[in-house]
Amino acid sequence: MHAERKNTIIRMFNVSKRYGKMEALSNLSLEVRKNEFIFVTGPSGAGKSTMIKLLYKGESASSGAILVDGMNLARISRKQIPMLRRQFGVIFQDFKLIPTKTVFQNVALVLAVAGLKPKEIYPRVMDVLERVGIDDRAEEFPPVLSGGEKQRVAVARAMVGGPKIVLADEPTGSLDPDSAAHIFQLLRAVHEAGATVIVATHDQQMINNHDGRVVRLEKGRMAREN
Ligand SMILES: Nc1ncnc2c1ncn2[C@@H]1O[C@H](COP(=O)(O)OP(=O)(O)OP(=O)(O)O)[C@@H](O)[C@H]1O
Ligand SMILES: [Mg+2]
Repeated sequence: MHAERKNTIIRMFNVSKRYGKMEALSNLSLEVRKNEFIFVTGPSGAGKSTMIKLLYKGESASSGAILVDGMNLARISRKQIPMLRRQFGVIFQDFKLIPTKTVFQNVALVLAVAGLKPKEIYPRVMDVLERVGIDDRAEEFPPVLSGGEKQRVAVARAMVGGPKIVLADEPTGSLDPDSAAHIFQLLRAVHEAGATVIVATHDQQMINNHDGRVVRLEKGRMAREN
């Protein structure tokens, strides 16, 4: 196998996504190498969130091919989706934490679903909570936390399963600059630990301040790559 091929973790080829007549993504092709850090940027409505959703099969492409770590997303069965999702840690602007579960339980759920035993779950969850600096709030419920704290919990949840790929959709979009910078530091640490990281963001300052490849979308098409 060609060396470049072997290092590819995500390959999108001529991918389009239509919602009725609306084409959210048009013939998008992109290759992502293992352990790349990629920013996906572009104006509102450009298709950034759609691209993220297609990658973890939150939505299915209308046409084209998406390969994730060798799996063809168009071909995998419903039963294989949990296995696909375990490759990913996903972070959203609005956190998507479960309000009725504690911080600990929100993060532990990922490992429980993966079939780990409580004895194995406890130390792993406490370790990631410590790494994101939120271990002292483990027994709190999300609604009492600040936005920055909630996002740290979401990062912990994305990290705990040791995913190959971390997808973040506007992870700092609702945070103050200090909290946003902290979340970026955490994403960098995840990247340094070996994960491939894809961040959809409007935050030009963050893009300027960090190394990473920039993919710019406009009206569902690749506008520029550098
Ligand atoms: N479920 C849906 N049904 C219909 N249209 C949709 C749906 N999801 C997205 N779209 C449309 O697809 C286009 C791309 O949306 P998307 O959310 O991917 O943009 P975005 O780049 O993430 O924008 P933003 O920066 O505002 O988050 C938009 O025109 C949007 O209205
Ligand atoms: Mg979006």
